[in-house]
Amino acid sequence: MGYHMPPSLHTLTPAAAKVHALTEILLHSEVHGELRSAAQDLYQLMCGFVGTDGHAPTTDEHANTNLPGGQAISPWGAGLCVLDYLRTTMFLRGVNTALAKAAERFPDETLEVLYAGCGLFATLVTSLAGRFNPEKVRFTLLDIHSVSLEGAKKVFLQLGLDPSLRECVIVDAAAYVPAKQPHVIIVETMQRALDKEPQVAVTANLGAHLRAGGIFIPERITVDAYLEYDSRKTPGLMAVQPLAEDQLLPAPHRVSLGQLIDLTAKNAPTWRANPGNTQPTGPVLVPPLSVNLPADSIEALRIALITEVTVLDSLKLSDNESGITLPAFRRFKPNAGKVKIEFRYRTGNTPGFDYHWIKARP
Ligand SMILES: C[S@@+](CC[C@H](N)C(=O)[O-])C[C@H]1O[C@@H](n2cnc3c(N)ncnc32)[C@H](O)[C@@H]1O
Repeated sequence: MGYHMPPSLHTLTPAAAKVHALTEILLHSEVHGELRSAAQDLYQLMCGFVGTDGHAPTTDEHANTNLPGGQAISPWGAGLCVLDYLRTTMFLRGVNTALAKAAERFPDETLEVLYAGCGLFATLVTSLAGRFNPEKVRFTLLDIHSVSLEGAKKVFLQLGLDPSLRECVIVDAAAYVPAKQPHVIIVETMQRALDKEPQVAVTANLGAHLRAGGIFIPERITVDAYLEYDSRKTPGLMAVQPLAEDQLLPAPHRVSLGQLIDLTAKNAPTWRANPGNTQPTGPVLVPPLSVNLPADSIEALRIALITEVTVLDSLKLSDNESGITLPAFRRFKPNAGKVKIEFRYRTGNTPGFDYHWIKARP
């Protein structure tokens, strides 16, 4: 038997049939309303499998955990991510494609799939695992929250997917060393502009353990910096008219300052490599970016950090398309005497981008 298990070849329970039908919509529909309601229905189903109240979390379900590489959001918060429907859609499509591609690349092997930060429902694999032959694809679930792993395990059991489950590991993904190099690694531990959550630290660690030829999901995350201006105003000219009461503010005009990060499974481990040591260990040091500001920067309103997530190939989440690609802003205090700034990624338990002024040469 091959990697795929068409549903007609085995009997789906009513619960598994419902998940299968919703997953079909998420994988194939191009209609936003259908995708949104499929994600909502999937969330309700998952809550039922786990036995949690989607509206009123228990204390354990509500607890975030601060880790050395950033904050791991609570089991409840992780479950809610399903409702960010375009995020769920693109990641599901990416994981589905990654599994098919990995099956082609490694035809004689059982695929090892590591899902780091799986959350309460392990949605990105529990929705898909039934489509793959358990002898050919095995899933390892990892999360720092035992409540999340217990929930995800319940979903596997409820859907009759336990033969596909390799193991569940409670550990910090930024420090975990898998016993066998995975063929596919899935990590969604991020917020917009790579703020707060440990996606960078986790990618820097796990990227180094991906099997040669393996696939890391997401394939790439970029954050670009822009200066934002009031688009009603021509820089250097005159003041703008006040807005009428019912008038919407037009979209701001943006001027690019450059790319702050290009996060991939290949790049990130090199940011951890200590000189003279080929093993990626130690703190993550993302290369900083220094930029000269445009002459009219004194007129700028603020800095906008714009995130793009390439889940795999052409499957992307761009500016404003999902919670994880909303713009993030930094206060920009124009300083007439200073023309150059440097952006740095602050690593540690509250990660995120900062900038500081660099003195212009006299
Ligand atoms: C944003 S939620 C995403 C949940 C799920 N992956 C999804 O896409 O629906 C992030 C999850 O990763 C877990 N997590 C974050 N950082 C982690 C770390 N360093 N080690 C282990 N788990 C982590 C959190 O506990 C949370 O369950």
